[in-house]
This record gives sequence, structure tokens and C-alpha cells, in this order.
Amino acid sequence: MMRKKIIAGNWKMNKTPKEATEFCKLMKDKVASSEVDVVFCVPFVDLYPALEELKGAGIGVGAENMHFEDSGAYTGEISPLMLKEMGVSYVVLGHSERRQYFNETNDMVNKKVKKALEVGITPIMCCGETLEQREAGITIEWIRIQIKCGLAGLTAEEVSKVVIAYEPIWAIGTGKTATSEQAQEVCKAVRQVVGEVYGETTAQQVRIQYGGSVNGKNAAELFAMPDIDGGLVGGASLKEEFQEIVHYQK
Ligand code: PGA
Repeated sequence: MMRKKIIAGNWKMNKTPKEATEFCKLMKDKVASSEVDVVFCVPFVDLYPALEELKGAGIGVGAENMHFEDSGAYTGEISPLMLKEMGVSYVVLGHSERRQYFNETNDMVNKKVKKALEVGITPIMCCGETLEQREAGITIEWIRIQIKCGLAGLTAEEVSKVVIAYEPIWAIGTGKTATSEQAQEVCKAVRQVVGEVYGETTAQQVRIQYGGSVNGKNAAELFAMPDIDGGLVGGASLKEEFQEIVHYQK
């Protein structure tokens, strides 16, 4: 089974709409690729400028969060239908920063993943352990719980469309990348738990990214691991360096 690699930038809370347009203009030819799927996940107000600038460029545009209801009294939230109508095709869900600073739970992430699939947006569902959990030796157990809860109630066919991002929290924005062996070990465990619950075919279809200080220098080694199907890239996705990650094979 050859899974197409998916390399997604996660801009987090960076770039104004004007900066988004400029960056997309600068980068669209540099990151064009037929070999891998390329996605820019951007702040809500940057979605429109990014979609406009990237029209026809073969680059997916994603949001960094969304609500799990279609509409209603949720002041300050953005609905999946709003994203869908704009042409957004991906959404990052359950990023560790949302879990940590905005109290997102596995249950909320599960509702959002279900909703995204229902409206036809590909969820990039994040999981990852803290340094304390790694040192306590409970990484795999923790990740298995996050995956089981996040995907609960989905059909195998739905799960096959989900992108899962394994992002050890201690490696995010720290410049401290997991070794390719550490990343592979957990990504393999993610595939295994998907297989246990949804079957081996689904496990072989689901794409699993590594995230946490991915850069132009370490991407090739990480992406060469058998269970790593690309990356979710924060800091390096804000810079021209992102092209080196996309073209990691060259
Ligand atoms: P980083 O962020 O690449 O800056 O470590 C990754 C992420 O949080 O998705």
C-alpha cells in the first residue's frame, strides 16, 4: 500500500491577511508538488486571502480549528459549514495547544472529527504526550486512548480518510525533534490501534504525520520511516524553508 505523503504547514497565530497573501504568492510555485499533498493551515481570517492566492495551485487550504455544530449561539466560533462553503478542505483538530490552553477534551475532538467528515472536510487529528508522560513510560498507552476516543463511533471508511498527526508536546516549537526511531515507534503504535479497532485495511490507508520541530534538515530522515506519512510543520512552515520540507526527496 503506497500512501501519498501529506505535508501540512500549521501557521498557528501568525501572519496577518496581507502577510498571508504575500507568503502564498511567494511560495505557491516553490511548493507545488505532484508527489506529495501540500496543505497550508492558516488562521480563520487568512483563509480567504490564502484560498484566493492559491487558486489552481494544487495546494490545499486548511483551518486550525472549528466548532462541531452547524450554527447557533456560540459567540466567537466558526462552523464547519462556513469553512466548507469557502472551499476549505482540511482542518487541524485537537492540537495540543488547543487542548492545553483552551481545554479541548477527547470528547470535543471526537465531535469535531465526526462533523468534519460529515461535511466533507479532511480532519488532521492531533495526538501527543507530554515530557512527564514520556518519562513515566506511558506514552503509548496515552496515545492509544487519544486515538480510540478521538475516532470513537466512526466507520472504518470514515477513519481511512482521517489524517492523524503525532506530535510529542516536548518537541513542539522547542527545536528538540523526536528521533526518527522515537517518532516511528509511536506512529506505528497509532497504526496498530487503528488496525485493532477498524481493521488492517483501514490501518494501512490512514495517513499518520509526525510533527514537532520538523525542518528542512530532518524531514527526509523522518519521512523515510515506514509509518510516517508526512509532517505537520509549525515554525518552519512560516518561512521559505517550508519548500525544503515539501521537496525532502531532492
Ligand atoms: P513546530 O510545531 O514545527 O513549530 O514544532 C509543530 C506543530 O505544533 O504543529
